[in-house]
Amino acid sequence: MTELNQLFTIRDFIRWAVSQFNEANLYYGHGTETAWDEAIALILHTLHLPHDINTMVLDARLTESERSILLRVIKKRVDERIPVPYITHEAWFAGLPYYVDERVLIPRSPIAELIENHFQPWAHGPIESILDLCTGSGCIAIACAKAFPDAIVHAADISRDAIEVAKINISRHGCEDQVHVYQADLFDGLPPKKYDLIVSNPPYVDAEDMAALPKEYKHEPELALKAGRDGLDIVTKILREAKNYLHPKGILIVEVGNSEVALSEKFADIPFMWLEFERGGGGVFLLTYEQL
Ligand SMILES: C[S@@+](CC[C@H](N)C(=O)[O-])C[C@H]1O[C@@H](n2cnc3c(N)ncnc32)[C@H](O)[C@@H]1O
Repeated sequence: MTELNQLFTIRDFIRWAVSQFNEANLYYGHGTETAWDEAIALILHTLHLPHDINTMVLDARLTESERSILLRVIKKRVDERIPVPYITHEAWFAGLPYYVDERVLIPRSPIAELIENHFQPWAHGPIESILDLCTGSGCIAIACAKAFPDAIVHAADISRDAIEVAKINISRHGCEDQVHVYQADLFDGLPPKKYDLIVSNPPYVDAEDMAALPKEYKHEPELALKAGRDGLDIVTKILREAKNYLHPKGILIVEVGNSEVALSEKFADIPFMWLEFERGGGGVFLLTYEQL
């Protein structure tokens, strides 16, 4: 392989990967936003180096086996359009690392920011019970458990595969006693219980957006994205039933992304509060028990 005889240092590999990524016109949306950040994430993780390495190390020569592995993962990213977290099996959410593979969506919800802020100023009173509907990797449930150490968290997903991955993360973060997983079709399959907070990042991609998804997203489970013609199939069911599972002071927080407009039009009489985020993102609404 010619590249193997021409690339020797970390700096060489970062430069080459950025050129390859730009030439291939890759899509970034799974944790990074540029070819540069994507290359650094992939290369440093593969070399087991921290993101804040001393730049003196950039010109250290790599071993032959390290160079072969780097060539392989860079080519995998380009040729198969696999998002970096599925190659490294790691994604970060609310400051915590999660194991991910193609059984679950790669965590990226702006809800992380709400969790880090303990849902202030929206949550009134203590939050002792939390339901994460459509949990996927378990990232929202686990981040909530860390933010509210005294709360019990229920995490539900219809996918057996997703439940398996959520369990890996629950065990990785040592919160087996606090986070309980249920295989459930939304509320159907949950214990009869009321929560102080129901939070969800459900599937919400409409048919038009599904047809136009960049190749990177095709590696994610269709079940995690697709939500009918208007993207509202799942959120409509959540709105219909959530009140039965909330305490009178409870709140419901749901991400619907680009389907915000369609949802506001479909339910013009519901006073959705659309939340704003310092780190970007949107399409997340809040409703109180009374508003539901
Ligand atoms: C957009 S992903 C969100 C995963 C995770 N909460 C996150 O933010 O990264 C949606 C998840 O909903 C699950 N799901 C789809 N339909 C469902 C249903 N009817 N009931 C429960 N979970 C469902 C999918 O399996 C997928 O894991």
